[in-house]
Amino acid sequence: MNVAIIGCGTMGSGIAQVASTADCSVKIYDTNPIALNKSKADLERILSRLNEKGKLDNAEKERIQKNIEYVGDLKALSEADLVIEAIVENLDIKKTVFSELETMVSNNCIMASNTSSLSITSIASALNNPERCVGIHFFNPAPLMQLVEVVPALQTSKNILDETVKIISGWNKTVAVAKDTPGFIVNRVARPFYGESLRIYEEGIADFETIDWSLKNLGGFRMGPFELMDFIGNDVNYTVTETVFKAFYFDSRYKPAFTQKRLVEAGYLGRKSGKGYYGYDEKGNIETN
Ligand code: NAI
Repeated sequence: MNVAIIGCGTMGSGIAQVASTADCSVKIYDTNPIALNKSKADLERILSRLNEKGKLDNAEKERIQKNIEYVGDLKALSEADLVIEAIVENLDIKKTVFSELETMVSNNCIMASNTSSLSITSIASALNNPERCVGIHFFNPAPLMQLVEVVPALQTSKNILDETVKIISGWNKTVAVAKDTPGFIVNRVARPFYGESLRIYEEGIADFETIDWSLKNLGGFRMGPFELMDFIGNDVNYTVTETVFKAFYFDSRYKPAFTQKRLVEAGYLGRKSGKGYYGYDEKGNIETN
């Protein structure tokens, strides 16, 4: 199967790895050549580490890498059977890319978005054939996270939904079908997790190291909320919160926090920028002093 991924940042790169591991022929496209080079180099680093640990043999490593082609021209995606878009979380930009791409791909091509919080129904409305549009929402890091939410738009045909569930299940993922509502299932549940943690911090009840420690050691979470926001990217996390807040007609349960807004304005995006709530060393580990 020919799979096209649009956007080779955190999510696009991970989804490309998942699809190529499942033996799809993958083309990954980005407008930024630096991002394309980084994605390729990151995959080499990730697979080499697995190879060194004995979790992936040489032939498998080579097969996964050979299945992926890095392209800088949207037209190169014309043979795709399935497109998964993972670009910036902006409705207008996503709609523009979808309508441009629809003129290039076949009528049977499924067109999916990995959006965390935008309306799939609204993205679908940019297409002449909106029945082919669906949400396929992976979690970060895509190769490791088992769950994928599949989200039909109001316009999505039953055939496209069934086919999408079949494809993603075949990629060794567990699918949960969710209604097209802001944040779907997991990101909606996660908003109060981050939001309430930020409020506890802003009210001076505890610092973020203590909040993270408590949730990990007392609550059984693998990562604390601040570590997790840094891991996801404060820009991405803030945008999702803002979108969900607006989409729920400014329901105060989802209100974004100034603490996170200021981090984003400063470029303190988290692990990817070397600084967020915590400072990070070159290997991406939290600096302890
Ligand atoms: P990112 O910022 O790491 O990567 C986005 C990539 O898209 C960049 O390489 C950028 O150059 C490229 N891009 C931007 N505009 C483009 C265009 N018009 N055409 C082609 N490429 C373009 O973002 P990330 O984190 O990978 O997120 C991508 C999408 O996935 C967003 O919709 C986000 O909400 C969603 N998502 C993010 C998760 C996360 O934990 N980061 C988890 C699940 C979904």
